[in-house]
Amino acid sequence: MKSSPVSRSGRFAGGPAAEVAQFTESISFDWRLWQQDIQGSIAHATMLRSIGVLTRSELGAITRGLKQIGGEIAAGKFAWKPELEDVHMNLESELTRRVPAGAKLHTGRSRNDQVALDMRLWLREQITALLGDLASLQRALVALGEGHADVIIPGYTHLQRAQPVYLAHHLLAYVEMLERDCARLRDCHSRVNVCPLGSGAIAGSTLPLDRELVARLLGFVDAHRRVRLTQNSMDAVSDRDFMIEFAAAGALLAVHLSRLAEDVILWVSAEFNYLKIADAYTTGSSLMPQKKNPDIAELARGKTGRVVGNLMALLTLLKGLPMTYNRDLQEDKERLFDTADTVRATTRLMAAMLRNTTVNRAACARAASDPALLATDLADYLVLKGMPFRQAHHAVGAAVALAEKSGRPLNQLTLAELQSVDQAFGRDALGVFDLPRAMAKRNFPGAPGTKEVAKQLARWRRQLEQDDLNERGSGLDRALVRIPPSQR
Ligand code: ARG
Repeated sequence: MKSSPVSRSGRFAGGPAAEVAQFTESISFDWRLWQQDIQGSIAHATMLRSIGVLTRSELGAITRGLKQIGGEIAAGKFAWKPELEDVHMNLESELTRRVPAGAKLHTGRSRNDQVALDMRLWLREQITALLGDLASLQRALVALGEGHADVIIPGYTHLQRAQPVYLAHHLLAYVEMLERDCARLRDCHSRVNVCPLGSGAIAGSTLPLDRELVARLLGFVDAHRRVRLTQNSMDAVSDRDFMIEFAAAGALLAVHLSRLAEDVILWVSAEFNYLKIADAYTTGSSLMPQKKNPDIAELARGKTGRVVGNLMALLTLLKGLPMTYNRDLQEDKERLFDTADTVRATTRLMAAMLRNTTVNRAACARAASDPALLATDLADYLVLKGMPFRQAHHAVGAAVALAEKSGRPLNQLTLAELQSVDQAFGRDALGVFDLPRAMAKRNFPGAPGTKEVAKQLARWRRQLEQDDLNERGSGLDRALVRIPPSQR
């Protein structure tokens, strides 16, 4: 007999045409939900036992059967059947082949609430793991800053030298960005962490399903251990907002990573030469023997395109979709998987690359010694002498022009020359160009001053160590399926 999916028996005379099966299957990508599917099925079966649909021995047989199948999948010994469409039917039909009671497992359940459940379970784990990856990247940035706490570089606006900053200050800017990404992911997690099971295909069930028990078994509880259930069966089977939120948080994270990547790419160029990436984290050219390319950073920058694209694809997928489940929704998986895979790999690789990057102190010092970076400090000097800032800005601008015309750096002008521009310049004016002193002066919250940057480095070090102890993110998940003895 040609094998045909369980969903067609009874109503249909035979299996689908081969090209239909090929067009509609999802097993080629949703097989990776097998752990979540098994987890969900064990919880569902446990509940069915508690309401008397399964006997104790049937539950035992189903649980053992699912675990056995899980073991085979993990060992790579399970043969997935494309003609069974998806992961849900592959597992159910194999279970039923081995265990007759498997035929009772789908009681009060549809693939519509099942797939929503699997995706929520899967995404919950991915978010937790990604939070861990992000913490590692933040630590790598803090470590690079701490290891070069005295290094000063030009800060840039318009990619033109602007004002001096500590390298650590520049790196901590990314730590701040990533922290906002973490906050968005935690917020997203709170909406992922809601149990849809019991919604059935669209309209729940006439059977007295105990949704709360299933949700508790699967760890769908909030920080106060209050159970979290979807409140509308139609919304529950058609909602993909939680995926879009993740895709959006992922897209913004990818944008952040691309900016960090771009800074690295610029800084390892001969023109900047601030950083050097270890050989193991760079690649060569097939033609030019001298080349050492920052490919990790370039790919991090490049992969942003697909992650942003995944968000657009998901938004477009949902646009105008009528209630409730439509097969269109099967298209959500590859986009979501790709976003999670891509941002996680990129985050990890960027961290590894940074841990294997050294700072060229001499090149940084040379660039930071450009006295023009302190032109604004010179204007501030005049302000402290009582001059309105606009007038001070004009006077320093004239001094810069004079220095440029005479082919000298700004700090090489004589006092007489400065005074020819404006009488307010005194003998102490040139003291402004003492870089360590200039850096000591920038001292309030958020400023790139010596004390403030040290404070920020210490704050982040403490916070990230704390998170490490709390195993950042793990507090989010309260999993999973330890079947209470009373239910066994
Ligand atoms: N493979 C399907 C998906 O990914 C599972 C749900 C199928 N439901 C259905 N009514 N055909 O969305």
